[in-house]
Amino acid sequence: MKHIAILASGNGTNAENIIRYFSNEKKAKVTLVLSNKPQAIVLKRAAALGVDSFFFDRTQFYETGEVLMMLQRREIDLVVLAGFLWLTPPDIVEAFRGRIVNIHPALLPGFGGKGMYGDRVHRSVLDAGCTESGITIHYVNEQYDSGDIIFQARCPVLPDDDLHSLAERVHSLEYEHYPAVISSLIDNL
Ligand code: GAR
Repeated sequence: MKHIAILASGNGTNAENIIRYFSNEKKAKVTLVLSNKPQAIVLKRAAALGVDSFFFDRTQFYETGEVLMMLQRREIDLVVLAGFLWLTPPDIVEAFRGRIVNIHPALLPGFGGKGMYGDRVHRSVLDAGCTESGITIHYVNEQYDSGDIIFQARCPVLPDDDLHSLAERVHSLEYEHYPAVISSLIDNL
């Protein structure tokens, strides 16, 4: 059985969706959830679903290598970022190259980069007058949102959309596709 770790910073609805999807799978399970925010709801969601979940700080992520060591000690095969807002350090990118993925709530290469996350992305899409948005699942490299694209799905931006309605439509796409894409990546590990 393959082991999946999820890194998330906030609410964790994607994390929960992925945990639930793989709870009925034999080939892989989410065995670890890590967050850079001690109060993140994702930690509570994971704990409620019986998945080990921990907070880590900047030093443990960027300086001491403790996060990387934990991923290795727990024999993690695939690292999944789901609403995770810090740039991944080079040692983790290198150790997991081709085995670390992110989801972005827009059609990259548009609307990506540092500071572009969550509602900020949807606000920019609306302000730009786009008629289409979507999701991008991509490999993680040393820069924000610039690794090779694995999968994209599109949805319309409707004339009367606001932040809430667009975010909801994009989130639905994420719930529909992220677990399935992860599942196919697992098949190829
Ligand atoms: C998701 O929409 C995800 O695509 C986005 O944060 C949201 C997290 O929601 N990620 C980024 O913007 C990364 N740049 P969730 O915590 O409910 O899963």
